[in-house]
Amino acid sequence: EKGGFASFMDKEIHDQPQAVADTLLGRFDPAGNLQLSEMNIDESLLKSIDKIVVIACGTAAYAGQVARYAIEHWCRIPTEVELAHEFRYRDPVVNEKTLVVAVSQSGETMDTLMAVRHAREQGAKVIAICNTYGSTIPRESDGVLYTHAGPEIAVASTKAFLSQVVACYLLGLYLAQLRGNKFRDEIQVILNELQTIPEKIERILTEIKPRVGEFAREHQDEQSVLFLGRHVGYPVAMEGALKLKELAYIHAEGFAAGELKHGPIALIDSGQMVFIVVPSSRGRDSLHAKVVSNIQEVRARGANTVVIAEEGDTEVEQYASEVFYVPQTFTLLAPLLTTVPLQIFAMDLATAKGLDVDQPRNLAKSVTVE
Ligand code: F6R
Repeated sequence: EKGGFASFMDKEIHDQPQAVADTLLGRFDPAGNLQLSEMNIDESLLKSIDKIVVIACGTAAYAGQVARYAIEHWCRIPTEVELAHEFRYRDPVVNEKTLVVAVSQSGETMDTLMAVRHAREQGAKVIAICNTYGSTIPRESDGVLYTHAGPEIAVASTKAFLSQVVACYLLGLYLAQLRGNKFRDEIQVILNELQTIPEKIERILTEIKPRVGEFAREHQDEQSVLFLGRHVGYPVAMEGALKLKELAYIHAEGFAAGELKHGPIALIDSGQMVFIVVPSSRGRDSLHAKVVSNIQEVRARGANTVVIAEEGDTEVEQYASEVFYVPQTFTLLAPLLTTVPLQIFAMDLATAKGLDVDQPRNLAKSVTVE
């Protein structure tokens, strides 16, 4: 069933172009507009919501963090993201005008389920973004948007994450379309760009994966690895750190790059490995320059800087010990590409250490206790 791959995780990483393509499939009407009627929530209600709260755990919560940047930008609806177990027990403000989005691969995560129940008791409408047909969370939600990643066997999430991110984008674009936001043409442009993502992931798998693997094997004795990112690169950094903890049992931490000078920079000394997820240099904003100066800052203190940047961004090379380039895309969509080298790094490093990447110690595929 591993289809010739060394592990389910390796197979599932290679399934990602298909998982993204399948999650986009069948969501358009003949005119090319997004059609998400499966969500089963009244359009007039979706037009009237004044807040979105995304609840999830672990990797699914990082997908939710990516969603926040996209949904707020496209829809101008205030969006929060919270770990389901924190949301449930802090008496959150939610009501009939709140749309709660519960993201869960398994649909059985007890922490997320309890948060869904609590939100509905407060009158909120709940949409599940889920990869498992007929599981409990979609059954207990008002509507569901299924991700079509196919069964994910490896305990640590890879293809489910990318398809969760895609589903979140679709939800955001659909809400923007529904609410008649100004940028109708822009929605089409983003949808077209999303269609190019599977092929771009494929390129990462064929062109970059072997180099990342070699790099991981050279660094199997690493004791601690830090990950920095900004904007949507921040949840990507968090996800990179989580994968490395789970699979390779290496101490890893993700930070918002802007937070570096507020404390974490004290951790940097000679030889400290730091991954930096760099945003596009083609945007109009100054994000790129800010992250490049973060690379400089850690490099000046002796860090081993491993940079994930967009093809053509040669400026990073002067401060990078190692660069892995991913294909160009829109800033908000970049997590679908920048996450992939980090997954590969964690998997190949763990494999080099002789660990079972499909079944890491102490972890279960679905956490059905609170
Ligand atoms: C990380 C991982 C976990 C899950 C989390 C939520 O690789 O797999 O962090 O993402 O336990 O699980 P689901 O999505 O099934 O609710």
